[in-house]
Amino acid sequence: MPNKDVVIVILAAGKGTRLKSSIAKVLHPAGGRTLVESVVRASMPLAPKRIVAVVGHQAEQVSATVAPLNVESVLQQPQNGTGHAMLAAKRAIGGAKIVAVLPGDAPLVRTETLKSLIGAHRSGNAAATILSAVVSDPTGYGRILRKSENSVAAIVEDSELTPEQREVNEINSSIYCFSVGKLWPALALVKPENKHREIYLTDAIALLASKGETVLAQVAPDPREVLGCNTRADLAEVDRIFRERKRNELMEAGVTIELPETVLVGPEVSAGEDTVLEPCVQLLGKTKLGSRCTIRTGSVLNNAILGDGVTVEPHCVIVDSRIDKEAIVGPFARFRPGTHLKKGARVGNFVEMKKSIIGEGSKVPHLSYIGDTKIGTHTNVGAGTITCNYDGVSKHPTTIGNRVFVGSDSVLVAPVKIGDGAYIAAGSAITENVPPNALGIARNRQSTKPGWAAKKRREMAGSGHPKKSAGKKSRKKKPRPRPKR
Ligand code: UD1
Ligand code: MG
Repeated sequence: MPNKDVVIVILAAGKGTRLKSSIAKVLHPAGGRTLVESVVRASMPLAPKRIVAVVGHQAEQVSATVAPLNVESVLQQPQNGTGHAMLAAKRAIGGAKIVAVLPGDAPLVRTETLKSLIGAHRSGNAAATILSAVVSDPTGYGRILRKSENSVAAIVEDSELTPEQREVNEINSSIYCFSVGKLWPALALVKPENKHREIYLTDAIALLASKGETVLAQVAPDPREVLGCNTRADLAEVDRIFRERKRNELMEAGVTIELPETVLVGPEVSAGEDTVLEPCVQLLGKTKLGSRCTIRTGSVLNNAILGDGVTVEPHCVIVDSRIDKEAIVGPFARFRPGTHLKKGARVGNFVEMKKSIIGEGSKVPHLSYIGDTKIGTHTNVGAGTITCNYDGVSKHPTTIGNRVFVGSDSVLVAPVKIGDGAYIAAGSAITENVPPNALGIARNRQSTKPGWAAKKRREMAGSGHPKKSAGKKSRKKKPRPRPKR
């Protein structure tokens, strides 16, 4: 759908005073992206000649946000209103035939709606075409005053409404198409005659209409698409709608979501058929789930790549990690960046992993820290095993081979290698390499003293320990009986 005669201008210079924030309004996130990025992404498939952002407040940050998306920025300084913002973009609009204007704070607009607006503008041969919406509560928005069923006379800002006009529930979305040749002469006549002393783009509409130019308004199919974010409550509502859209997209792709309104999914997440998301799951970043995975309640996955049939038990946190098919994780496991669990591996409760590879069918089932470690296939790491990867200055690697058995409560002091088929005795502090098929044992030998405990109890009974009710005098400290060795 090429629109090589169209330039898109995104108005993104305002401060967003009503948000009460140190961050420029269009940089606030909703649905996992900044407002301005969502607006750019909705415009990109239209394939316009150019996308231009008008920046002003926190100009550098806003420009840096949109530049990777091939958006050119123009500076509006000071910010004297939406009409003034268009004048700042005049050079960038250049010789284009049509300019499509989008506010940077209305991110829910769909490409299809924009496409249809441009289509209506072309076929109506209009000077301006407004995207309007019919809403139950128009408070805060400019209202569309119609000349006839098909044409518009003016847009009146909320602050300038007469009581009668206040009843109008068709609002201006701030999304428009203008024929460039008609816009500039009209804007040149707009004066800052309003409470805010700003040049309103909306005033150009009334001027065009009064000159007998065709001004059309196309009603958005879903009024929620044009929601502007002026307050924190607006941001929350827009976020909620984005999240709902994303969940619906996953459900259409064959994903089961239990209690969907409790599940939060980022815009770039994907998941395969028959995957199940339990309540209160969060899938963030570029997380990609295979088919038939189960992500159980309370788990948070950020940039996680999961193969088919993976189970993530409740309350796991998995970041920048890969889990191959049929592996099982959790409950209460934490995967820090660079962890890779291979096919059928199992990492259990209260295990923290960092930058480690766990081979096919290997298990780290309970209470471990595994960092900078490579584990081969079909190895079992006992409860409470700790890899000591840090000596206070540098990180060191641990390598554990295939079919190794690491006894519980062992510490493996890196750098260290455990060969294939080796055994590590429980409770060992391993500081040297263990060759294949060897036993590594590094702890004191146990000594057992028969009858020792019974003897001790007898001694204590015979020593006449003071009773609780005894008077002050008898409470003098007595030497503790020492066990004989
Ligand atoms: C604007 C419209 C209003 C419409 C509403 C829809 C005007 C005068 N009013 O009001 O009719 O119903 O949007 O949401 O246009 N901006 C600049 N430079 C400026 C001023 C604003 O770039 O000098 C940008 C803002 O960053 C924002 C957008 O323009 O992204 C709209 O400005 P905002 O202040 O939110 O206008 P509204 O009061 O919402
Ligand atoms: Mg607004």
